[in-house]
Amino acid sequence: MKPVAATRKLADIISLEEQYQLATYKKMPVVAERGEGVWIYTSDGERYLDLYGGHAVAGTGHCHPRVVKAIKDQMEKLLFYSNLVYSETRARAAEKLVSIAPESVTKAFFCNSGTEANENAMRMARMTTGRENIVTFSGGFHGRTADAISATFLGKYREIGKPNVPGHLKAEFGDIDSVQAIADDSVAAVMIEPIQSMAGVKMAEPSFYRALRELCDIRGIVLIYDEVQTGVGRTGEWFFSGSDASDGVVPDIISLAKSLGSGIPVGACLVTERIASHIKENDLGTTFGGGMIAMAAVVATLEAIEGDRMLQNVREVEGYLRERLQEVEQVVNVHGRGFLLGLEFADKAKPVHESLLERKIITGTSSDPKVLRLLPPLCLQKDEVDLLVEALQKAV
Ligand SMILES: Cc1ncc(COP(=O)(O)O)c(C=O)c1O
Repeated sequence: MKPVAATRKLADIISLEEQYQLATYKKMPVVAERGEGVWIYTSDGERYLDLYGGHAVAGTGHCHPRVVKAIKDQMEKLLFYSNLVYSETRARAAEKLVSIAPESVTKAFFCNSGTEANENAMRMARMTTGRENIVTFSGGFHGRTADAISATFLGKYREIGKPNVPGHLKAEFGDIDSVQAIADDSVAAVMIEPIQSMAGVKMAEPSFYRALRELCDIRGIVLIYDEVQTGVGRTGEWFFSGSDASDGVVPDIISLAKSLGSGIPVGACLVTERIASHIKENDLGTTFGGGMIAMAAVVATLEAIEGDRMLQNVREVEGYLRERLQEVEQVVNVHGRGFLLGLEFADKAKPVHESLLERKIITGTSSDPKVLRLLPPLCLQKDEVDLLVEALQKAV
């Protein structure tokens, strides 16, 4: 039984937050105090299995010791200085990111979030081509700032962002003819979320990404992959770009954020030489981008993924998870790749989400009412998969 004092304290925290924070989020009744690996602990000693990874951010798991130490060490030395000076930490972060990216990627630009990465990606495409229009896809989500929300053709988001930035054109995800029909010489970029996470973890055939690459090459259009969710190991590869699922296709720009800093806000655009050659001094900028704490977190995040062989772990545990999910009759399909998975149910997924939460397992919903999303830390183990499967069998 929960101690009464602790229970009261949790209720107090919830009501305090509800009183003073704008009510823009539908929250779970969980008061997170501490995290370790795939677990989140509340102050009254409960623990939750976090298969949502704190919104796909905790790629290395909560409070990975290597990341925590790197941040602490950096804090003692220098909290921040902007891009007007050089920094060994920033140099190492850029070098490391470029070294794990597909070969044609040569440079990084640092910012603070996913939406900012996409804004800068679109700006670079316009600067490179001298054109203005941007093609994105039905079901894609790219962020909430003006240009990124105007590029988002998922649910109500564009409406929230009114008046929209002009020059955003919609194609149908997975349908190359729909791109062909609008990708004329006014189009600077085609931007795609290669696995559409919020839409319900939708993937296209590998041949679609290949066809997109060829079309962009023929028409002089920049191809942008929004890898804010798929990047940094989530699919069992460092990036979706260049992977088999992408038919080896590498875009001209990759945007990143979410798990890149293990929880320290950081975003990045990775670019090829073609793009880099068009970008000059003062074309892009942001005060906090490339700050030392974020850069220390990036280096440590990438080293932790490498050191703990997390890419291999994702591939192995994904296989096990898919196998075990066959025992759950109500799961009619499993979408996605690696640790970006959408469990499709015969009926609504929300009651399953709620029932799992009662069993102390955090998962995510999506804009597809039948799809439950899993975005766990890349260190999830097989025995934790067993806990999910047992809970699912009881929940459905
Ligand atoms: C694919 C994708 N792009 C962009 C964003 C926006 O990122 P941020 O919330 O860091 O601005 C998100 C956030 O959910 C995302 O999933």
